[in-house]
Amino acid sequence: MTTVTEIAPDVFSICTYIEQIDLQFRQFLIRDEQPLLFHTGTRRTFERVRDAVGEVIDPASLRWIAFSHFEADECGALNYWLQEAREAKAACSANGSLVSIGDYAFDKVRALGDGETLTIGSHRLRFLATPHLPHGWDAGHLYDDTSGVLFCSDLLHHLGDVAATTTESRVAAMKAMLESSRGTPMDWYIPWTPQARARLERLAGLRPRVCATMHGSAYVGDGAAELRSLASMLEEVYGAAAPAP
Ligand SMILES: [Fe+2]
Ligand SMILES: [Fe+2]
Repeated sequence: MTTVTEIAPDVFSICTYIEQIDLQFRQFLIRDEQPLLFHTGTRRTFERVRDAVGEVIDPASLRWIAFSHFEADECGALNYWLQEAREAKAACSANGSLVSIGDYAFDKVRALGDGETLTIGSHRLRFLATPHLPHGWDAGHLYDDTSGVLFCSDLLHHLGDVAATTTESRVAAMKAMLESSRGTPMDWYIPWTPQARARLERLAGLRPRVCATMHGSAYVGDGAAELRSLASMLEEVYGAAAPAP
């Protein structure tokens, strides 16, 4: 089942729970003059995500399809969306556009530079390039200045069929997920690079009111404190004291 929940004014979370892996996959829709979808979901789930978008807007009216990095859950259904919404363009990092999306999406892409803003009507979005955070050379984060929602991709990823939002920190839940993935293909999910803490600190500096993860509940509260706590947890799990890969 795919559900739709408004998590901030005109910001909707679309959720599909996959029981076999005890994991939610969420896309976020901003309803505005130029509607924007953050994450497409996989090709397999395209129809159900399209129908969920259709509960809020005409799916063909979508203008922007944004995401953090090139992976199936982030943008696998991108070309299906570009066929559905003929005026839409992908919006991703300049690096992502250069390396993958320019080719993958037949140049229907707006490459966003670090710090660049994208105004889609009343919502003003800011793009921050964050290479290798959460992972991938092309990774970035999108922040909605208007609603205070940080679309934080795989940061704060946790398991379970959980509510769309929570005021309880997600850091311990993510730590439990990372620890349970030791020795599995999901190990080393987030590379702790020399730049990772500074990149998380930069996201914290946005002081988001909502940290909207792709996998699990969006955290509502002091987003800066949540992201700093996340940085400390990731350093503990993946930093210098971590076991060799
Ligand atoms: Fe990812
Ligand atoms: Fe993901």
